[in-house]
Amino acid sequence: MITQKLEPLFKLENYQRQPRFQNGFYQQDILSVNQFGKENLDYIFERADEMKAMAHQWGTCDLLKDYTLACVFYEPSTRTSSSFISAMARLGGKVIPITEGIQYSSVSKGESLIDSILTLEQYCDVIVLRHSEIGSSATAAKYAKVPIINAGDGAGEHPTQALLDLYTIQSELGHIDGLKVAMVGDLRYGRTVHSLTRLLSQYDVSLRFVSPETLRLPMDLMNDLIDKGIKVRETNKVSDVIENADVLYVTRIQKERFTDLAQYEEVKNYFEITPEVMAQAKEKMIVMHPLPRVGEIHYKVDRDPRAAYFRQVQNGLYIRMALLAAVLGQA
Ligand code: NCD
Repeated sequence: MITQKLEPLFKLENYQRQPRFQNGFYQQDILSVNQFGKENLDYIFERADEMKAMAHQWGTCDLLKDYTLACVFYEPSTRTSSSFISAMARLGGKVIPITEGIQYSSVSKGESLIDSILTLEQYCDVIVLRHSEIGSSATAAKYAKVPIINAGDGAGEHPTQALLDLYTIQSELGHIDGLKVAMVGDLRYGRTVHSLTRLLSQYDVSLRFVSPETLRLPMDLMNDLIDKGIKVRETNKVSDVIENADVLYVTRIQKERFTDLAQYEEVKNYFEITPEVMAQAKEKMIVMHPLPRVGEIHYKVDRDPRAAYFRQVQNGLYIRMALLAAVLGQA
């Protein structure tokens, strides 16, 4: 039998996790782009530049070594989930990955989103959540004590994608004011379009929307743009916008959001960006796509230096490193 008093395992008084920076993001949920003002955007973009330099020079660091992220994806993902996991790894943090394997979690036993979140938050410091319902992240945030980062809530928003999209435009073209941005594809269900459009409306831009009639930008979003005095134009032909566009933001038709698959079949091959289409575009412009693509951009376009979509993917890593570190008070 042990009689002597146990030596304490940890000298807890010597170290406390403290925020290192007052940044406006510390312990905040990231639910919608509406919460970002220009100051926040500049802050994150500057931090992303630093993350990029660090990753190129060192590969990894230990900025988030004391932190754990739960990555919870109820919908498929390649880029968003793996870039958050990679971001955490490069910053020396840990990840609980509930991504492709959600079918092996208790969700398959019928556990509610809230119960899953209330459980996972016991193990981590921040949760990244993707779910098929609009408003799911906001609901989770209402219950959770740890910050929730919305990684896509159905056809609602995808704020971290919009951050990396805007960061890409700024990095590639040097500025945002004065640009003509054309959004092409599924503007009705495409959450990346909804978030990026809202962010862009803080700048002096003109927006062109190209879609089939059934997939036009939602009315409330369009009205917001008009109220803000943004110059907008709608068309159903890429040829109407290609010559003047500084940014061509192409999106996939969101098959999974259609209740009537016959309607999807009608629009699925609506347009394709080919080298011939690109021949009409300006010399200095960029083509973006949140990816995955399913036929909207021909593979031959990848060799065009104006094709920015894989550089956009890379920027996602730096933006998510910056955001995670900022939310945890370490950037
Ligand atoms: C997008 C998404 O999930 O909304 N993908 C992504 O996060 N890069 C776009 C899409 O699925 O079409």
